[in-house]
Amino acid sequence: MTIRSVISATGSYLPEKIMSNADLERIVDTSDEWIVQRSGIRNRHISNDTETAGYMATKAAQKALEMAGMDASDIDGIIVATTTADRTFPSVAVQVQHAIGAPVGVAFDVQAVCSGFVYALSVADSMMKTGMLKRVLVIGAERMSSILNWEDRTTCVLFGDGAGAVVLEAQEGKGDKTDRGIHGSVLKANGKYQDILYTDGGVSTTKASGHIVMQGKEVFKRAVGYLSEVVEDVLAVCDLEQPDIDWLIPHQANIRIIESAAKKLGVSMDRVVVTLENHGNTSAASIPLALDDANRSGKIQKGEVLLFEALGGGITWGAILLRF
Ligand code: ACO
Repeated sequence: MTIRSVISATGSYLPEKIMSNADLERIVDTSDEWIVQRSGIRNRHISNDTETAGYMATKAAQKALEMAGMDASDIDGIIVATTTADRTFPSVAVQVQHAIGAPVGVAFDVQAVCSGFVYALSVADSMMKTGMLKRVLVIGAERMSSILNWEDRTTCVLFGDGAGAVVLEAQEGKGDKTDRGIHGSVLKANGKYQDILYTDGGVSTTKASGHIVMQGKEVFKRAVGYLSEVVEDVLAVCDLEQPDIDWLIPHQANIRIIESAAKKLGVSMDRVVVTLENHGNTSAASIPLALDDANRSGKIQKGEVLLFEALGGGITWGAILLRF
């Protein structure tokens, strides 16, 4: 018997306030033209003080449960990928558990920055394959605006806030490529590059979260190289092949990185889900936000093969191949 972790529903939450490139022109020395040309971003959602990572994660989880036609009592695990938790501890996951009224079960956060959702989904899949969990909420939730230096034009124009969630259900599969669910995942990290993207603070050093510092060009180079490698790696561990891929749903950091990954993979841009233009880089929330957008708009269909890929601070990166 093959246990497959199947995404049975999706949900998301975006803060009400939208900040355009024109709005940013009034804050730092930048231009709509520079931001669009270099990154592909036009707008991003910026949260207010009520819209914390925990609040947005809860809203996204409730939407996913509603789509699944499930009650919180059906859930036995909650895994949240976040870098911007409401508090140093406890986790956002236990906050969500209490807020939605889920029963006692497994709840914890995963911290892998922009790769967080891919990490969290892979961890949930492993726990489901051992039989430990049956119905899990996997959430990516980020309030990136809270760790931005709003005087640093090289970073503050790139990020946004939001949350996305999936309900992951253990189902029995036949063990072949027609099964719905996750077929394989590959996770990587290389701490050698921890200083090309980091926050200049932390609870055990400065006793504050700090702000994002990024060597954009260096991150860009690693992203293009590592992402094409990891896609090869995930195809090698799966029974699915490149021509099976219906949709690429990448981490939404930069349109040029996305285009390069699509080209190397041999997937045309009309088979790539891109929400970057209106969301900016929402770190661990970007893939589940893009997934929910594509699902609710009817772009992606049940039974299609999806490839998720992401790279973020650490450097961490990874990819997941699944049949939706
Ligand atoms: N507006 C106008 N000019 C700017 C801005 C801005 N917002 N920011 C930088 N510039 C200037 C620079 O000062 C520089 O000027 P100079 O030539 O006079 O020195 C010029 O624009 C070019 O800057 P670069 O940094 O070389 O621009 P680049 O083409 O590399 O684009 C970018 C920058 C968009 C950040 C790109 O490098 C990138 O996307 N990198 C990858 C980011 C990424 O993938 N992050 C993912 C992980 S995020 C996470 O994990 C939290």
